[in-house]
Amino acid sequence: MLFYLALSISGSALPANEHDFIEGLLQHMTLEEKVDQLNQLGVQDTPTGPVIDQGELAQLPMSTVGSVLGAYGFEQTRRLQEQVVMRSRLHIPLLFAFDVIHGFRTVFPVPLAEAAAWDPALAQRTARAAAVEATASGVHWTFAPMVDIARDPRWGRVVEGSGEDPFLGAALASAKVQGFHGAGPPDPSFMLATAKHFVTYGAAEGGRDYNVADVSERTLREVYLPPFQAAVAAGVDGIMPSFNELAGVPLHSNTALLTGVLRNQWRFGGLIVSDFNAIWELSQHGIARGPADRARLAFNAGVDIDMASQTYRQHLPALVRNGEVPLTAVDDAVRRVLQAKQRLGLFEDPYRYSDEARQRANVLTPQHRALAREAAQKSIVLLKNTDALLPLPKHLRNVLVVGSLATDAEATIGPWALAGHPEESITVLQGIRRAVAADTEVVYLPGASPVSKEAENLNTVRQAARLAEVVVAVLGEQADQSGEARSRADLGLPGAQEALLRALLDTGKPVVILLMNGRPLVLSPTVRQAPALLETWFLGSEMGNAVADILFGDVNPSGKLPITFPRSEGQIPLYYAHKNTGRPPSGDGRYASAYIDEHWTPLYPFGFGLSYTSFSYSTPRLSAQRLASTQSLDVTVTVTNTGARSGEEIVQLYLRDDVASVTRPVRQLRGFRKVHLAPGEARDLTFTLDQGDFALLDSDFSPVVEAGTFTVFVGADSTTENHARFEVTDSRALSISGQSVPSQGSN
Ligand code: NOJ
Repeated sequence: MLFYLALSISGSALPANEHDFIEGLLQHMTLEEKVDQLNQLGVQDTPTGPVIDQGELAQLPMSTVGSVLGAYGFEQTRRLQEQVVMRSRLHIPLLFAFDVIHGFRTVFPVPLAEAAAWDPALAQRTARAAAVEATASGVHWTFAPMVDIARDPRWGRVVEGSGEDPFLGAALASAKVQGFHGAGPPDPSFMLATAKHFVTYGAAEGGRDYNVADVSERTLREVYLPPFQAAVAAGVDGIMPSFNELAGVPLHSNTALLTGVLRNQWRFGGLIVSDFNAIWELSQHGIARGPADRARLAFNAGVDIDMASQTYRQHLPALVRNGEVPLTAVDDAVRRVLQAKQRLGLFEDPYRYSDEARQRANVLTPQHRALAREAAQKSIVLLKNTDALLPLPKHLRNVLVVGSLATDAEATIGPWALAGHPEESITVLQGIRRAVAADTEVVYLPGASPVSKEAENLNTVRQAARLAEVVVAVLGEQADQSGEARSRADLGLPGAQEALLRALLDTGKPVVILLMNGRPLVLSPTVRQAPALLETWFLGSEMGNAVADILFGDVNPSGKLPITFPRSEGQIPLYYAHKNTGRPPSGDGRYASAYIDEHWTPLYPFGFGLSYTSFSYSTPRLSAQRLASTQSLDVTVTVTNTGARSGEEIVQLYLRDDVASVTRPVRQLRGFRKVHLAPGEARDLTFTLDQGDFALLDSDFSPVVEAGTFTVFVGADSTTENHARFEVTDSRALSISGQSVPSQGSN
C-alpha cells in the first residue's frame, strides 16, 4: 500500500490493512468510479506487435477504464498505466489482459496439439513459461485456459481446447491454471488465469461458431462442466461466459449457471468477465429490450466486467439509481476487481509488470525455445507407418518437400499467437534442412496451398518426385482456417492439396504426409493411401525442429489423439464415450444403430497414436474382485516394450459401469500414465480407483455409487479390449456438496 499511503486519497492516508484498504477505497469511490472498474477497454490486436493505434490511444477516456485488453510490452503498458494512475482522481491502476493462449513470444503447440501429449506437467510448464514472458511484458491477466469440451471438429475453436474428453480436459485445465500462477503472489510472474467459455460453447449446433447449444442437464454436468470445475478448484481467477445460448438462455444472462452454479454451488469468488462485446449482443439474441436492459440482464446474472461494449459504463449507474441493480452487487463486483489488482501488487507498484530489464531477460530465451521443442515433439501423433517407412534416414540422396505449409511461418505458430513473431519460428522446411546429412539434397516445391484453387506446376512436381528417394508432403490448413469464426462444413484437405497428393502418389514414390491443422480432418481415400502419416498440428516456434526430430528418429513419437478423427462429416458428432443404445452398432444385422453408407467407427479413435517401437499389455490384475463402495481398487498392468527402440507409451484406463439406473457411456477415461521403456523393458503400472470413479449422477443428479459389476479396460487407446471385471457390493449416496460430477483429476 506504500504507493497509496504516499499519494493518499482525499487528504487522508489509507488504512494499512489490506482488507481495510479495499473497503476504504470503495468508500471513497463514486458510483461512476465504481462502474469504471467494471469497464474493460478492448483494443485491436495485431499478430505482430503492440497494438493500440497511437492516434486512438490519445482519445481514450482512460480514467473510465478498469482494465485493458490487448496491450502489451513494457513501454505500452507503462504509458497507459501512467495515464490512469497519474491523471485519475483515485489513481487506481489498470489491469492488462491478453489472450496468452499457447505461449507468448515463444510460441508453444496449439492447445489441441498439446493435449495430444497427455501430459499435465508439460501443460503446466508451458503455461508457466508463457506467464513468465507475458508478465515480463506488462500483462497481468490471461484469457486462458480455454476448457471447452469439443466433439464437433467442424467448429474451428476445437484448436483452442483439449479435445473431447472431460477427464483429460479437467486434468489439463487444472495444470494450466497452476502454470499461469506459478509460485503465486507476490512473485511478479504470477498471472491471473481465466477459464473460458462457460459453458457449452463447444456444443454449438452444426459446429457453426456462436450457434446455439441445446444439451441435456446430464450432458452439461457430466461432459461440459467438469473442466470448469477443475479450473475453479485449482484457484482460477476469472471465468468468461460463452457467446452462445444454452437451451434458450444466453450464457451472458444465465443466472442459473453464473450465479447458481459458479457462485453459489462452486463458491467461485473470482471475476466473471464478459466475452468481447457479448453484453451488447444480448440484443441480437433477442432477449434485451434495449441498451439498459442488456446491462441489467448481464450484471444481475453475474457478469462483473464488460469487455468492450461500454454498456455498463453507459447504463449501470442509472440502473443502480432506479433500483434495478443493487448497489451492494456493484460493490461486490468492484471489490473483486480491486482484490485482483491487490493480489498482483499493483497498489504498491502499478508498474511492477512493466519492466524493461525483465522483458529483455525473459522473452524468447533459449530455455523457452527448448521447452517449445520438447512440447512440440510430445504433441506429434504417428497415425500410420506402413512397413516402418519412418523414421527416415538422415543420409538420403535427396528428399522432395512439397506443400506451401512447409514454409508457412504463420501456420507454424498457429492461430492464437498474438505476441508471436512468425519469422522467429522454425518452419518444417527449415527443420528438415537442418536435420539431414550435409550431402542430402533437399528440394522444395510449394505445389499447392490450402487456399489455392489449382495446384502449381504439377508436371515439375511429378518430375521432382520421380527423382526423389522420398517425398514429404506438408498438407493441411492455414492458421486462419482454424480458430474463432473458422467453422468448416467440409473437413477434407482444402484447396488443391488433394490433386497435388494424387500426383505424388501416382509416381509410386514413398510419400510421408505431415498434417498441419487445428482440428481433426476427414482424410480422403487418397490421403489414407499414403504409407506414412504424422499429425503435426500447429506446433509453434520450434515446429520445424521437432518435426525433423520425429521424422528422422532422434525422438520416438508418443502423442495420442485427444479427439476422435471421423471418417466423414456425416458421422459428426463422434466420440468414444458414446452410449450403447438398445441396438448397438457393433451388433450384426440390419436394425442396428449404424449407417447404410458409412462405417459407424472412426478412422482414428480417441487415444490413438503409434510409436516406432511396439508395446504389449498384460491383462489387468485387480486388488479385489469384489469390494465395498467405500473401498478403493488397485488395477495393475504390465507394459512391455516389445520393439527395438526405446519409447514412451501413454497408458490409458477406461471404466464401464455395466448396469446402472441411468444409461452410462460404453467407457470413460479414468486414468492415464506415461511410461518410458527401453527395448525389452517391462514395467508394472498401478492405477487406484475409488468411489469417485465408480459414481454416477442418478436420475435426480445426486452422486451415487450403485452396486453391480464394472469393466475396467487398460490399453493403448479407447478401443482396447484388454479388460477385467469387478463388482461393487453395495450402493451408496455420496455427499459431495457442490459437485457437478463425482470426481475429476488424473492419476
Ligand atoms: C473473443 C474470444 O471468444 C475470447 O476467447 C477472447 O478471449 C476474447 N475475444 C478477447 O480477445
